[in-house]
Amino acid sequence: MEITPVILVVDDKPQNVELLEAHLLNQKYKIITASNGKEALEKLSNNIIDLVLLDVMMPDMDGFEVTRRIRRDEQNCLLPIILVTALHEIENRVMGIEAGCDDFLSKPIEKTELLARVKSLLNVKNYNDITKKYKIELELKVAERTSELRRIHKNVKLASLETIQKLSKASEHRDDYTSSHIKRMSRYSEAVARSLGLNDSDVESILYGSSMHDLGKIGIPDHILMKPAKLDPDEWEIMKSHAILGAKFLEGSEAEFVKAGESIARHHHEKWDGSGYPDQLKGKEIPISCRVVFRCAHFCTPV
Ligand SMILES: [Fe+2]
Repeated sequence: MEITPVILVVDDKPQNVELLEAHLLNQKYKIITASNGKEALEKLSNNIIDLVLLDVMMPDMDGFEVTRRIRRDEQNCLLPIILVTALHEIENRVMGIEAGCDDFLSKPIEKTELLARVKSLLNVKNYNDITKKYKIELELKVAERTSELRRIHKNVKLASLETIQKLSKASEHRDDYTSSHIKRMSRYSEAVARSLGLNDSDVESILYGSSMHDLGKIGIPDHILMKPAKLDPDEWEIMKSHAILGAKFLEGSEAEFVKAGESIARHHHEKWDGSGYPDQLKGKEIPISCRVVFRCAHFCTPV
């Protein structure tokens, strides 16, 4: 459907408005008029305008000021403006260009020149509208695709996490822990990490990585893992190997939360005084994620 361009004619003298309307008659344009700058700005606010024919010499607010105000309006900053002036001095033309007008027409108005300039600037406006519409559509598509990719990424991450949690649950189950222990401990670790002021990325790595801390227990024989009595020294050494085993299960991943899980699995039994295992790390040698998980793992007793 062809859209009729709307032209706003602004002039304080009714005879000038009538003359411009007469020249534009039968050109398939819709004409709106205003008799001063204030009225012109109101009409621009309340109508979709495609071009402005603007008289320069008007009382209260001249054409230069109206042009400046139109240019400051985000909606109309590219709207074609033709200044209609009886002033021929270069200085006035420069003022018009500086104010932001697109073209000039000198009084007395010559019809052919008026129609040619109006047609030319309406073509520019049409091109700008198409570009603007295309840009909006493109931004919407990019936003949609970004949202979709975020959703897919989140699902893949959740699926990976759930797989690891189920593996952890299997190992914990043999150790008479319940699955809720893993989730509870992970949430405590997240809360502690956040209270320590760690950034969102590190907090997330601790949340996910902490659920893998005892993954290595999968590799510990039942008669040791579930032995009701105290372990002898040899059995204790095997039991302690769950830290290195867990880290080996998780090594080589590109995912940040699995890398965090590897570190947590290896070092979650290190102690501040260096008496822990497997690497006897001391104090701040122990990654902060492992210090957080060590505390929370001992705080969250199984139910
Ligand atoms: Fe452990």
